[in-house]
Amino acid sequence: MVAVERVREIVKKGCDEENWKFHILPTVKYARLLAEKLGADTDLAELGALLHDIGRIKFGGKDHEVTGIPEAEKILKRVNCPPEVIDEVRHCIESHRGSGSVKPGTKIARIVANADAMAHFDGIPFLLHLGLKKKNDLEKAVKWVRERIERSWNKLTIPEARESMRKKYEAAKLLISVENFK
Ligand SMILES: [Fe+2]
Ligand SMILES: [Fe+2]
Repeated sequence: MVAVERVREIVKKGCDEENWKFHILPTVKYARLLAEKLGADTDLAELGALLHDIGRIKFGGKDHEVTGIPEAEKILKRVNCPPEVIDEVRHCIESHRGSGSVKPGTKIARIVANADAMAHFDGIPFLLHLGLKKKNDLEKAVKWVRERIERSWNKLTIPEARESMRKKYEAAKLLISVENFK
């Protein structure tokens, strides 16, 4: 799909390097991998992964499962994506957080939500870096990262995704713990 290349460029351009390298790219990698394993459209999975956090990237974290939708639509229309692709990406965005009321109802949306969580296990140093920026206190940052790790683990609803992250999850639990400070 030609659109994927163009969307990749647009998202990369609008994204700070940290987010792109440590979160969006790993999410794309895992989305394509899961799509291959589950026999889903890899390009569609990549589009969902590229755009799942577009709201957070443009406007900040609050309600980004909502704010990202018009932004993604704008980008997808610009590259002439058909309405069914736009609908699928919209559903990926609205359902990716797990905390919201909309749950992933399609294979592609499940793949994107799982890939998003998987990316956190590759990016634990990045999470700690974000936690420190947010909390300005190491103990609070560790607690924040630990909560995110648990949340990400609980988001792994695809058995293959869960199994492939189990070792990293166990290691993260050992290393990222406020108990270690006591
Ligand atoms: Fe997100
Ligand atoms: Fe994300």
